[in-house]
Amino acid sequence: MKSFLTTRGMSREELSSLMGRGFRHMATPPGQAHRSLEGTVVASLFFEPSTRTRLSFEMAATRLGGHVLTLLPEHSSLLKEESLRDTVMTVAAMAPQVLVIRHHNEGVPDLAHRWSGLAVVNAGDGTNEHPTQALADLLTLSQQFGDVAGLRVAVIGDVAHSRVAGSLVPALVTCGASVTLVGPPQLLPREPPDGVAVSHHLDPILPEIDAAYLLRVQRERGVTVANGYISGFQLDDSRAARMAPEAVVMHPGPLNRGIEIVEEVADGPRSLVLRQVANGVPARMAVLESIAEGLT
Ligand code: NCD
Repeated sequence: MKSFLTTRGMSREELSSLMGRGFRHMATPPGQAHRSLEGTVVASLFFEPSTRTRLSFEMAATRLGGHVLTLLPEHSSLLKEESLRDTVMTVAAMAPQVLVIRHHNEGVPDLAHRWSGLAVVNAGDGTNEHPTQALADLLTLSQQFGDVAGLRVAVIGDVAHSRVAGSLVPALVTCGASVTLVGPPQLLPREPPDGVAVSHHLDPILPEIDAAYLLRVQRERGVTVANGYISGFQLDDSRAARMAPEAVVMHPGPLNRGIEIVEEVADGPRSLVLRQVANGVPARMAVLESIAEGLT
């Protein structure tokens, strides 16, 4: 694999092969992973805030014996009006083998790949995609249910502005899950992807699903929490109680407790939230390792 920018257009076999690698890393105790990134430098360029994604890339590279070079944009020459292209090319001139990039503008990881010729992993670009989060979520669903095919997943909330949904929904469809996007019309995409259902009502969906995948309202992108959002779409105790006994609750984080989800559900027995975080490490190990193999 040369770069990992999108899940759109990936085949089921390609996704399964990355998941297979991810499962192998999940089964290996920390400290005993094959050092397949020995001698590899991964440059981490996060132009937007991040907790779990940045740290799990660092953890993944470290576990595989690689090194991480971290650009801190708020302490970089971007503050001296250096352009994004010059910043990327400056890092690239030091010859790391992989760039991991998060940026508030859509398409920046792809541009960085074209500018530098280096392998790039998209760690989230604007409202577009976040493919390694999708991989972590596929691993989590597959670990929980044995397979993703045939699962009924509701993706609930601000789908229109969610890069997580941008990568997860096509990946779920490719893997054979049936997906319903749930939210008020202004928070759902105008044209949902082929094969994906849409509902503006959460309550009738709840008993029918295997997983409720909640999304945060992206307030930093100018979206507001409209009147009626909480009463219509918050996953509270009584709604969670109407889900099937084996059904699970997922969320990519960060959680806005009290808005899309309540404490009791976020921390309750159905919640896979911290498992998603944990699985972010083997997911990113799988991606970095298959890129490193493609470099040799
Ligand atoms: C998300 C992101 O930054 O795209 N979080 C994550 O990486 N796990 C989701 C969000 O910000 O709502």
